[in-house]
Order: sequence, then structure tokens, then C-alpha cells
Amino acid sequence: MNEIHILGKYPMYGELEVQGSKNAVLPLMAASLLHRGVTTLEHVPDITDVGCMVRILESLGAVVVREKSRMTIDASCISFCEIPLEEVCKMRSSIMVLGPLIARMRRAVTYYPGGCSIGRRPVDYHIRLLRELGIKILEEDGRIEAVAENYCGTVITLDFPSVGATENAILAATGAKGETVICGCAREPEIVELCAFLQAMGIETVGAGTDRIRVWGQISKRDPHVRIHGDRIAAGTYLAAAAVAGGEITLTGAPVTSMKATLQALCGCGCLIQTEGDHIHMKAPRHLRTIPYLETTVYPGFPTDMQSILLAVQCCGAGEGRMQETIFEGRFETAAQFNKMGARISVESALPGCEGCISAAGCDGMGYIARIQAGEGLHGAHVTATDLRGGAALVVAGLGAMGETIVHQCHHIDRGYEDMVGNLQKLGARIHRITGT
Ligand code: UD1
Repeated sequence: MNEIHILGKYPMYGELEVQGSKNAVLPLMAASLLHRGVTTLEHVPDITDVGCMVRILESLGAVVVREKSRMTIDASCISFCEIPLEEVCKMRSSIMVLGPLIARMRRAVTYYPGGCSIGRRPVDYHIRLLRELGIKILEEDGRIEAVAENYCGTVITLDFPSVGATENAILAATGAKGETVICGCAREPEIVELCAFLQAMGIETVGAGTDRIRVWGQISKRDPHVRIHGDRIAAGTYLAAAAVAGGEITLTGAPVTSMKATLQALCGCGCLIQTEGDHIHMKAPRHLRTIPYLETTVYPGFPTDMQSILLAVQCCGAGEGRMQETIFEGRFETAAQFNKMGARISVESALPGCEGCISAAGCDGMGYIARIQAGEGLHGAHVTATDLRGGAALVVAGLGAMGETIVHQCHHIDRGYEDMVGNLQKLGARIHRITGT
């Protein structure tokens, strides 16, 4: 049993420090494999995806020590280059280890990665970029083997600004002789954070945060020591929670500049938001508004990771709206769970060729526009998390619903949120967790 019980409509008040960013820490942990010494990371979130990456690094020979939110990774002796299948199945970010491992060891073996069930999520961009760098890739029965002797920097191009493929290409390029130019890059803040970290290791990069990044330089002997930025998605989730429950909260350590699209959306729902430095102060409106149209897109647009969470907010508003998902075709699975709580969402339209994805929203997995019809607001129900952000969104919906909501399968939430229940309790939410057999 792994359930979260929520009594909705209790306003939240108080201050919360935003956890370190999941999507920033995972590539940094992978990048630590490049350094033949000790890397120190501060403000590392206590989430299960980090635990998974720790096990991957340890299986390769690294020594990882964690003391509260500080983590040291001693990668002086890396003796293996095969990532264990059981960890690969749990987390898509395991693919991030491919780039640094090939750069350092000249050989790396992994498998097609797992992760959330939000769509097909292939790794073809990663593989194509590595091949363009001159790395030989052998694929057989889900196993991916990368082999390279010496490879030289060149110009490589992404067809779509994939975050993970951009990061993997940057990491692999650190092992190339000379300069690599990566075109069509993703511009997410986590890429800027990765490049700043590589800088601390002696690798030069120019252009992080734009669609063209140059990488050159050599790993120095200097031990890097960096602090992980606040998690923009976790921050947005707590703001959404207070928006639907009511009340007034302040977040500290928030990455305000990278949250513009999320803050704009919450303002569109009627929330009053003030920012100062890394503080966000939000007052929930008496009555939430539904935004007529919202579309997920690549950074700096509205993030796909906030989609289900904003959908929960939309369901608590008065009025009709549409949300379009343009990144992951399976993200609307949670819509069917919201409907159990009294929401009136229909998922429409089609993405050609996404037959593999099965949506519970009644669209055979082909839908990518959610139409939210005006309803009576949400009521408590038994609902089931099927992915990380969808699970968090169900908690948000429960906080805005009348009566009791029970969220099942909440281990998904632990992949990206550090003590979500404890944090919400601190803010006054009526929420508790039941674990056991
Ligand atoms: C990262 C984030 C995830 C976020 C996503 C988009 C981490 C650990 N995860 O995931 O939280 O939702 O960015 O902002 O940082 N694609 C392919 N082939 C590939 C790679 C991607 O077709 O080889 C497609 C995906 O299926 C998806 C789109 O490209 O439709 C974007 O994916 P991508 O940006 O790569 O997401 P991730 O890096 O996996």
C-alpha cells in the first residue's frame, strides 16, 4: 500500500524552500564521471531518481557519499562501462550516462531506457548525434553499445531541441579532440547549469541557453563544487497547490527567471504573484479562472512537466478551456483520473503514429488536446498515479476538491518530489501518507 490521503479545500499559508532541481542534478551526476577526482554537489534533492543514478554510478566504480543535501562523487577509479539493466528500466535519465562514459572510457553499454509512461520516448536523437561525432553504435535486442577510439570535434545537428539529446551530445563532445559545434540545441535552464558545471571542470562551452553550443577544452584536475538550482517544476507544483486550496504562500530559493511561463499561467488563473530575488509570494484568488488556451512547448514556453499540474488547476476554475500538449503524446493519461473527481475533460485530435501509447482518457492514446468543460468543481475520489507529474497533479487536484481524495501508486511522485506530503503539511494542508503492505 502506498497512498496519499487528502482533505481538500483547506487553505495553505507559510514559507517553503524549493528543493534542488531533479532535471539539473541527474545530468550533473552523470557528468561527474568525466572527472578523475571528487565532485561535490550541494542542494541535491532526496528523490528516488537520484537514488537510481547513485546506484548506476556505484555500479561503474564511483564512490558516492551523501550527507544531508551534500553529495560527493569520487570517480577516480571507474572500472566498468556497462550500466545495469535493472536501473536503466527505472529511469530514462540513465541514457545520460552514455555520453560521459564514452568520453572517458571509449566504450559504454546501456539499454533502451525506462521512466514515466508519458509517451514513446525513443532515444534515436541521442544515437544519431553520437554517430555524427564518429562514435560507433551497435543496437541489438534493446542493448546499445557505443565504441570509439579517438574522435574529433565536428558540427552536429539536432532535428528537434531534445533536452536529453543536447545534454548527451555536450557530454560526449567533451571527449572529442578539438571543437564540437551542436546546432538545434534545447535552451532549457538545465543545459545552462550543465555547461556551468563543465566549466568548473575545465571544459569550455559557449552558447548554452541558445540553439547553438560550442564545446572544447580538457577536463582539469580541479575538483568541481557546485550548488544545484531550485527545481522550477517542484516550485510550480507548490504554487499550483496553494492556488487550488486557497491561501497565501512564499517560496524561497525559487528559480524565478526560468519560471516565467508558469507564473504567467497562474496569473492567468487569477493568482496574485510577486517576486523578489529568489522569493515568490503568491495569493490565491477567491475564485479561480480557467485559461481559455494553453499550449506546452519547449523552453521558454510553458513546460510539458507542468501540464498535468496546470490541468488540475484548470479543473478547479470556472469556465471552459483547452490545453494542447506538443511534446509528449501520452501526458493526458491523468485526464481520466481527474474525470473520476468530477472534471469534464475530453481529449481530442490525433498525433499520427503514436499507436504504442494507451491513454486512459478515452482517446486510444491518439489525443493531444484536452478540452475542459465548465463543471461543478472537483470532489474527492480514489485515483491512481501513472507517472511522476501526473501523480503530483492528482495531489494538487485533491487539495482543491471537496471531501477526501486518495491517490494510489504514489511511488511515482517520489521520483521527483522530496517529501511532498511533509512540505504540504508544513503549509497547513490536510494530507497524510499511508505506506506498508
Ligand atoms: C527532459 C526532462 C523531462 C521533460 C522533457 C521536456 C530530464 C531528466 N527530463 O526529458 O522532465 O519533460 O525534457 O522538457 O531532464 N525524442 C525523440 N527521440 C529522442 C529524444 C527525444 O523522439 O532521442 C522526443 C521525445 O519523445 C519527446 C521530445 O523529443 O517527444 C522531447 O523529449 P526530450 O526533450 O528529449 O525529453 P527528455 O530529455 O527525455
